Amino acid sequence: MPFQQCNVKLSVSPSRGLVDEKLVILVQSALPGARLTLRAFHHCEDGHEWEAFAHYLTDTSGSINISEDPSLGGTYFGVEQMGLLWSIRPVPGSQPGLRMRKKNVETPMEFTISVYQDHLTEFKDQVLLASQLVERWYMAPGVLRTPITDHGLTATLFLPSGPGPFPAVLDLWGGGGQLVEYRASLLASRGFASLALDYLTPNITVKTGKMVDNTYFEKAFTFLQQHPRVMAERVAMLGLSFGVSVTLKMAAYSHILKPKCAVCISGSHVQPVEGTMVDILSYFDRIGYKAQLNDKNQAIMRNLLLPIPTDPAYKVDMGCVKCPLLLVVGEDDQNWPACESAADMKEMMVRAGNDHLLTILSYPNAGHLLEPPYSPHTRVSSFRSVGTREKITALWGGECVAHSVAQEDAWKKTLGFLRHHLYA
Ligand SMILES: *[C@@H]1O[C@H](CO)[C@@H](O)[C@H](O)[C@H]1NC(C)=O
Ligand SMILES: *[C@@H]1O[C@H](CO)[C@@H](O)[C@H](O)[C@H]1NC(C)=O
Repeated sequence: MPFQQCNVKLSVSPSRGLVDEKLVILVQSALPGARLTLRAFHHCEDGHEWEAFAHYLTDTSGSINISEDPSLGGTYFGVEQMGLLWSIRPVPGSQPGLRMRKKNVETPMEFTISVYQDHLTEFKDQVLLASQLVERWYMAPGVLRTPITDHGLTATLFLPSGPGPFPAVLDLWGGGGQLVEYRASLLASRGFASLALDYLTPNITVKTGKMVDNTYFEKAFTFLQQHPRVMAERVAMLGLSFGVSVTLKMAAYSHILKPKCAVCISGSHVQPVEGTMVDILSYFDRIGYKAQLNDKNQAIMRNLLLPIPTDPAYKVDMGCVKCPLLLVVGEDDQNWPACESAADMKEMMVRAGNDHLLTILSYPNAGHLLEPPYSPHTRVSSFRSVGTREKITALWGGECVAHSVAQEDAWKKTLGFLRHHLYA
């Protein structure tokens, strides 16, 4: 390497921050007009390796500012300040169907940002000019994490730092079950007490029919309301996918669980309204989805994109919803006909005269798995639904750039919506 390149300086800040914070990445003291590659590398908790990279040219002063200089090639193109994170993907040769999800939120995700000489696509044995480790956290300093097992709940409570009391969010994930904490811990980092609730896996099998009923959600909601550091009148619900089915059912019909507002991401009001949890899951697994083979001969779980039912027994009566509702829709959602569903919900609310409560955020070319900002886009992944118990390949949809834009915008607007309705 030309010896001048030895002094290349890389600065990435903040070197420790929350996952929804932007990084400022600068390269300085390289040669003018040098071809350099920036790479992000992440070794996941589950052992898998992920990377993103982009090709840059330094300016006349030998610098790159990733906030204003374009990538000329790699895993993203153009000026993309956060491209090195959102375009990250499993390294070549990884097993198919991976999805990056943080399990232990008490440790950070570590990304190594590196600069290499020349425009590279492979990094083994290449000349590394500079490198910096950055920590990305879901849990801000001072956030308190408490596993909850009393009241029959399987949950984790996150409290923001400070004495409170705080407004709160009951956080529900979708049909894969498990206790998934990362979004709730990020909400707590942003000022909301949050309860991540596992409502599908506790002691449950569809075969035995032993699953939670409405009282489980009411207990979780009441638990939050009665917590000394929570403002009892300011508790919201947030759901994704199957979590939306529960959120809407509760918001429309429960006499106990009355959210102050609700955020519904990539889900719908369609379900057998009088049904148990088993009925709802079997309805989706029987009616909604079908395994198909894709061009690589993998089974893909794909929504049949059925028309929205007209029978009111199969739809939550949106006219009964009494709280402000934010619907987040990925227009390329391949798991659920999200656009048709949102249109039908809106129509029901217009007819009932409560559509003033509804806000729809609809994103072209975004898929089903709308995650916190800068999370990698997962178009397809291995998935085990609690309903079917089979591991299948699920098609979620979305196009990487548009999906990433949607994740960033939707998160900002979700926090704004929660602040408006819970803090105002
Ligand atoms: C990098 O670009 C951003 C956005 O244009 C700008 O605000 C910042 O000052 C630049 N930093 C340097 C060191 O040039
Ligand atoms: C699950 O089982 C455990 C132990 O058998 C019990 O303490 C807990 O309350 C059960 N949870 C639910 C949601 O039924």
